[in-house]
Amino acid sequence: MKAIQHKKETALTNSAAWWRTAAIYQVYPRSFADGNGDGVGDVAGIRARLGHLKTLGIDAIWFSPWYSSPMADAGYDVADYRDIDPIFGTLAEVEALIGEAHDLGLRVIVDIVPNHCSDQHAWFRAAVAAGPGSPERARFHFRPGRGANGDLPPNDWQSNFGGSGWTRVPDGEYYFHMFAPEQPDLNWANPAVVEEFDDILRFWLDRGVDGFRIDVAHGLVKADGLPDISSLEPGAGKPYEDQPGVHAIYRRWRAIADEYTAADPKRERVFVGEIVGPDPEGFARYLRSDELHSAFNFDFLFCPWEPARLRTVIDETNAAHALVGAPPTWVLANHDVTRVVTRYGRLDYTGFGFDDRRHGVPSDLELGTRRARAAALLSMALPGGVYVYQGDELGLWEVEDLDDDLRQDPIWERSGHTERGRDGCRVPLPWSGDQPPFGFSGQGDTEPWLPQPTGWKDYTAEAQDGDPASMLSLYRAALAVRPEFGDAPMAWLDSAPDVLAFRRGDLISVSNLGTEPAALPAGTIVLASGPLDDGMVPSDTTVWLRA
Ligand code: GLC
Repeated sequence: MKAIQHKKETALTNSAAWWRTAAIYQVYPRSFADGNGDGVGDVAGIRARLGHLKTLGIDAIWFSPWYSSPMADAGYDVADYRDIDPIFGTLAEVEALIGEAHDLGLRVIVDIVPNHCSDQHAWFRAAVAAGPGSPERARFHFRPGRGANGDLPPNDWQSNFGGSGWTRVPDGEYYFHMFAPEQPDLNWANPAVVEEFDDILRFWLDRGVDGFRIDVAHGLVKADGLPDISSLEPGAGKPYEDQPGVHAIYRRWRAIADEYTAADPKRERVFVGEIVGPDPEGFARYLRSDELHSAFNFDFLFCPWEPARLRTVIDETNAAHALVGAPPTWVLANHDVTRVVTRYGRLDYTGFGFDDRRHGVPSDLELGTRRARAAALLSMALPGGVYVYQGDELGLWEVEDLDDDLRQDPIWERSGHTERGRDGCRVPLPWSGDQPPFGFSGQGDTEPWLPQPTGWKDYTAEAQDGDPASMLSLYRAALAVRPEFGDAPMAWLDSAPDVLAFRRGDLISVSNLGTEPAALPAGTIVLASGPLDDGMVPSDTTVWLRA
């Protein structure tokens, strides 16, 4: 198939280093918009709604996986990295979408899933068929079992989704999967794997993408000999996370991206890594100038709305990135965590992370919304890039009352029905109208793959458009002002301990996380996340000023 050449002049006018300050919007394709009326979001739906993203004012779109997949983990189990799943559309439609996004001045980042593929990927099927000791098996981590009959797993590694990390195939060998059994881990010590991903990167770069989000970027390399965790020194870290060998892979990938950038220097091709686990120095090693451009800031995402802790996270983030000259990112949510409004509204927020969905713990959504608004402005004022998870610009909350039999996240089954999983942040977006499916399927009224709360009638994009008090209006206004922060460095201003106040260039951001109203520094108000109180900043409010 002929690759699209995106050398023509497009609307991508901002600087080559666009990614250093970009606002990047995450589209979760199955829940964004449905173009063919089957109740599942797709590429046609995205193309029809690109205008929403343009008016929102973001710079780039990251698309969660849309590749061929049996959907054991909503597409993070890829059966063919070079094709689009029919549920989402066709490769030709994606090529058209990339061109249309570029014409609107929006960059495109695709998700790449290199740690594991699907058990339906041709390689894994061949591996199961070929048997022990075969070159086909050597692309994965196959091992004989332990114990007299080999019926014990090869080591004590657990799956992140619950249960053993090892599953047995009919001839008795086991294979390792960091996630679901349908997601066998690839063996990155095998040159065939390395070369295959070089080629996959080129496949998408040839189709004009501006970058890649790397799934489980810390996980690709496993410690030699696959040692039991129980055999390691305490605090040694997991033998399948953040192994030193992973950096050679990203150096190799960087060289490929740089090759494409060199041929078209106005458009740097970039990587953003999903890196969980290492300490700040370890994290920064991924961001050296010959490795990844950026990585998600999970410390910020996991930090509760507490001023001292947030101040520390912000300082540590800036310091870690300064070590290598990389821009930080500020992330409030994604498709794996509880929605911001619900998380910030939890009255007790011990446990704020990936594994702490804390389903059903009471949440004050009004408080959560106020804080989500303040946090949005805070995150957009900080130096570096910012991520927006679809629906956060509408102020959607976590849907916690889904029927258990509708749950699709493998975590629900794998945890033996103790963890309700991530479906509640993946409910299809409400676009218009006053009852479900809220225009999710255009004019159609097919029930979406997960039901939407009827209360979202006041939260549709249509209902919020033009309402100056809406979350959508706040996001649009903030993203319109945000470029003025540019790449100006940040300096804290003197303030009460409960207030986070800093200056970047001519702009000042003041967030009040205390209970008492706080005074504003001198300046003209540019934007506020909520009404002021007699010229003071009320609790849970962020104000931007021009000095
Ligand atoms: C990442 C994805 C998550 C997925 C997992 C396995 O953490 O964000 O959705 O389940 O990797 O691919």
